[in-house]
Amino acid sequence: MIEVQDLTKVYKLSKSKMAQLKTNSNIKRAADGISFTAKPGEIYGLLGPNGAGKTTTLRCIATLLTPTDGHVAVCGHDTVKEGEQVRESLGFLTNEIKLDPFFTPKYLFEFFGHAHGMTDSEIAARKADLFGRFGITAFEDKKIESLSTGMKQKAAIVVSLVHNPQVVIFDEPTSGLDVITAKSVLDLLKSLRDEGKTIIISTHIMSEAEKLCDRIGVIIDGHKVAEGTVPEIVEKTGAADLEDAFFVLYRDNHKEEEYNPQKAFGGARK
Ligand SMILES: Nc1ncnc2c1ncn2[C@@H]1O[C@H](COP(=O)(O)OP(=O)(O)OP(=O)(O)O)[C@@H](O)[C@H]1O
Ligand SMILES: [Mg+2]
Repeated sequence: MIEVQDLTKVYKLSKSKMAQLKTNSNIKRAADGISFTAKPGEIYGLLGPNGAGKTTTLRCIATLLTPTDGHVAVCGHDTVKEGEQVRESLGFLTNEIKLDPFFTPKYLFEFFGHAHGMTDSEIAARKADLFGRFGITAFEDKKIESLSTGMKQKAAIVVSLVHNPQVVIFDEPTSGLDVITAKSVLDLLKSLRDEGKTIIISTHIMSEAEKLCDRIGVIIDGHKVAEGTVPEIVEKTGAADLEDAFFVLYRDNHKEEEYNPQKAFGGARK
């Protein structure tokens, strides 16, 4: 279970970042009062355009960022006060995570298994299951640097799932993958969901959200502007399909940045 309550994350912006974001404010409310709950046995999708605040939200859930305001709990543990327990119960995946090129999938899997306090036999059983499911067994003794992009991605995924976490967080699961590898990643997420795990992903790909997610939270400019199943969101917006619904929500909710110091600093803890 993931419980996100009024999550706010404010970044201080450098001059160059202000120029890049075309704003005259030196802070950015990347997540601005976001609340939602993702339950065991469901895939919850954060759907939003570039810069909406998806990665920021996921990094706060994964304890990689400290929220400026609000609360996040994973399996009942507060991400700020009980970071250790939270990290034990989740696997955080992103395409930016790169495995050390000189090691092998087998070595890394065992290394991280031991780091999580697992015994040799627990690691061996887990490896047989995950490496088998992902077709990694034949490559387990090859150096990461010699593997294809897809195999590297799969190796990174299994390493982050070594401790069999209850919660799986995946920032843009198929970004940069070919359709075959993307399908195997999506199939894995579905099978984890069917095992009763809580899965949360971010995406801006409509077809992925439609096919994969049981419920979706649409995020625009740091705000959750809609939530529900795909048919519910389509119906609420009076649109023909999810893509249309997304355009309606974007048109109605996206505002160009305007500098308002009162709003900008109000409520921010630091
Ligand atoms: N460390 C940072 N310092 C300052 N601003 C940041 C920082 N990280 C993100 N931002 C800004 O916060 C906003 C939200 O960024 P975030 O990466 O969460 O968006 P996203 O929805 O994941 O976008 P994308 O689809 O491009 O991955 C963006 O405007 C981004 O430029
Ligand atoms: Mg992102």
